[in-house]
Amino acid sequence: MKKDLVDTHNRTHRSLRISIVDKCDLRCTYCMPEDQHFLKREELMTREEIATIARLFVERYGITKIRLTGGEPLVRPDAVDIVRDMSRLGVSLGLTTNAMTLDKHLDGLIAAGLKNINISLDTFDAERFKKISRRDGFDKVHASILLALQRGLRVKVNMVVMRGVNDDEILRFVEFTRDHDVHVRFIEFMPFAGNHWGRERVYTYAEMLGHINSVHTVEKLNDDPHSTAKAYRVSGWPGTFAVISTVTEPFCGDCDRLRLTAEGKMRNCLFTREETDLLSALRRGEDIAPLIEANVLAKHAMLGGLPLFKPEKQEEVLHDLSERPMVSIGG
Ligand code: 5AD
Ligand code: SF4
Repeated sequence: MKKDLVDTHNRTHRSLRISIVDKCDLRCTYCMPEDQHFLKREELMTREEIATIARLFVERYGITKIRLTGGEPLVRPDAVDIVRDMSRLGVSLGLTTNAMTLDKHLDGLIAAGLKNINISLDTFDAERFKKISRRDGFDKVHASILLALQRGLRVKVNMVVMRGVNDDEILRFVEFTRDHDVHVRFIEFMPFAGNHWGRERVYTYAEMLGHINSVHTVEKLNDDPHSTAKAYRVSGWPGTFAVISTVTEPFCGDCDRLRLTAEGKMRNCLFTREETDLLSALRRGEDIAPLIEANVLAKHAMLGGLPLFKPEKQEEVLHDLSERPMVSIGG
C-alpha cells in the first residue's frame, strides 16, 4: 500500500537526507562546536537498519531522492556499502562530503552507482581553509574535486559565505565555473547551535548577486521544482552557480525534504526542535510507519517556525534554535 507523505501545508515529500555518522575529519566553525561530543558506535544506525528504514520510505511513501550526509559520511567504514544499498533502491542518489578522503573511495563509490556528489569547499586559500575548517586539507579537497569531475560525476561545490571570512572569494568561485563544468552553490550562513551566528555575518543573496552582476553577464536558469537554490550561469561558461537563500529568502513553500539523523531520529526540517525516534522503535520491533506519518504532519510552514531574518527577533532565534549543531543534523 503506497501513501504519499503530505503535510498540513499540502507539501508532498519526496526527498530524504540520511546522516550515516555524526563524526567528521574536519571541524568547520559554522558546523561543529569546539566541544562537540560524538555518538557511540552502538547508537548509530547499522547498515541494515539504514537499509530497512530507507526501503520503507521509498517503497511505502514514494521517496524518490536520497542524499547521504554526515558529519562526514566517508569516515564510516561501510559508507560505500551503504551507497550501494541505496543505489539498489532505484532512487536518485547523492552524497555530501568534504572530500578529505574522496580519492581513496572514488572508484568504489562510482562502482556502487553514485552519480551526484556535493563537495564542501569554502575557500581557495590553504591558510584560510585551515582557519575555517580547523584542519589542514585544501590541497586534498581541491584535487578531489578535479578528480571527481574528471571521472564524470556531477559535482556541486558548496561554499558557505560568511561576511568578513570568505565573501571576498565569491568571484573566484564564479570563475571556477568558467574553468570546469561544475555547479557552485553559495549558501547563506545559517544559525545552528554553537556556530556563533549573527545576522550581520550573513552575506545575503541580494549582495552576492549584486556583486557578481557588477562584473559578469549573468543568465537566470530554470530551477528544478522543489529546488532550494536559485541557479545562474555566466553567459558562455560551462559551469553554473546558484544561491541558497535560506535566511533572507526562504523557499519553504515547496520544500519536499525530510531528514534522518545518524542515530535514527527523524526531523521534518533543518530548524525543527521536534524529532521522532524511529530507531528505538525499530529496535523494539514496533511499526515505525505511524511515527513517520505523524512527524510529517507536524512540519511547520516555514523554517521550523523560526523568524530567521527579522532583526528584532535575533535573540529569540538564537534562544529557540534546535540543540543540535549542523554536524549532527546532516548537511
Ligand atoms: N550554514 C550554511 N550551510 C551550512 N552547512 C553546514 N553548516 C552550515 C551553516 N551554518 C552546509 C554546507 C556544508 C554542508 C555539509 O552543510 O553546505 O557544505
Ligand atoms: Fe525545508 Fe525547513 Fe529548509 Fe524550509 S527551512 S526548506 S522547511 S528544511
